[in-house]
Amino acid sequence: MIKTIVYNSVGNTVDYIDQTLLPEKEVVASAVRIEEIAEAILHLRVRGAPAIGIAGAYGIYLAIDKFSGTEDTFFDYLDERSSYLNATRPTAVNLSWAIKRTKKVVLASFTDAEPGKRVESAKQAALREANAILLEDIEMCRKIGAYGAQFVKDGDSWLTHCNAGAFATGGYGTALGVFRAAFEAGRKFHVYVDETRPLLQGARLTAWEMLEEKIPATLICDNMAASLMASGKIQGIVVGADRITKEGYVANKIGTYSIAVLAKYHKVPFYVAAPVSTFDLTISKGSEIVIEERKPEEIIYAGKTLLAPKNMKVYNPAFDVTPPELITAIITNAGVINQPFSENIKKI
Ligand code: MRU
Repeated sequence: MIKTIVYNSVGNTVDYIDQTLLPEKEVVASAVRIEEIAEAILHLRVRGAPAIGIAGAYGIYLAIDKFSGTEDTFFDYLDERSSYLNATRPTAVNLSWAIKRTKKVVLASFTDAEPGKRVESAKQAALREANAILLEDIEMCRKIGAYGAQFVKDGDSWLTHCNAGAFATGGYGTALGVFRAAFEAGRKFHVYVDETRPLLQGARLTAWEMLEEKIPATLICDNMAASLMASGKIQGIVVGADRITKEGYVANKIGTYSIAVLAKYHKVPFYVAAPVSTFDLTISKGSEIVIEERKPEEIIYAGKTLLAPKNMKVYNPAFDVTPPELITAIITNAGVINQPFSENIKKI
């Protein structure tokens, strides 16, 4: 299995695959400081909602590992480091969810320990929690796969967008977890992979995962999906999610919304696959989700090659929001959520 991010006890490092270098090079990078985790998240070396959550939890561990203050300054330090890490990417809720969860056990462990031993106790608690978040995430992905595989039938062709695979999670993937589970069950199907402009997570990462699994797949440019649907070549679509509101609005990689609109028009079922850690029950509407805007260079350049005049004005939102009425069902680790989402999400 692809090891997206793991703790390495030998060197006390957090090791992750640098996804910006794929598919050319498979490089495992090591972080020893929270700043390196923040940099990796910001530059999409580690990316995908669940994976950045896991990285966030390990980041808190590394921050505590490097703490050199006195016990009475620990809370302020932890707050400041948590906010710093949390600010790296705003859209995926998994990051703040994992940081909050880790912080909670850290504070409990710090408070319960004897004076003089509190920081060490907090540090061990952070590592345990980060490891638990990683293992739980892999388990959740496998359950998503098990629930989702039923929808993929023999002879089908499915479409996916971006990378909601092992690279985007602790391993196995959410949307790609559905394909993995269907494939493991012996289903004969084919996957169309959207290249996913501007950063090509589909072309670079999903294509890589499909080849590695030997799941039959074809790469297409994003603007080809409509004509494939029109000619009846796509029987189902599954994508991941970065944040799902309590009414079922789904933020995911830019371009997801247009696929969902196309799917409705062409009567192709459109599924979202996500663990429960991707739900944000504090908000209802899609307009409440903060959409990250990224640098113009990501659109103006492909690597070092200039694709547009350097001083051209650029708009580069990293995500869009798909409204619930365009979504057939949400496949989670706790089961499949059918419509109406505003009633059924809260049950799960
Ligand atoms: O900008 P990215 O590459 O982090 O965006 C990733 C996505 O949009 C994924 O589809 C989403 O995080 C789900 S990953 C299981």
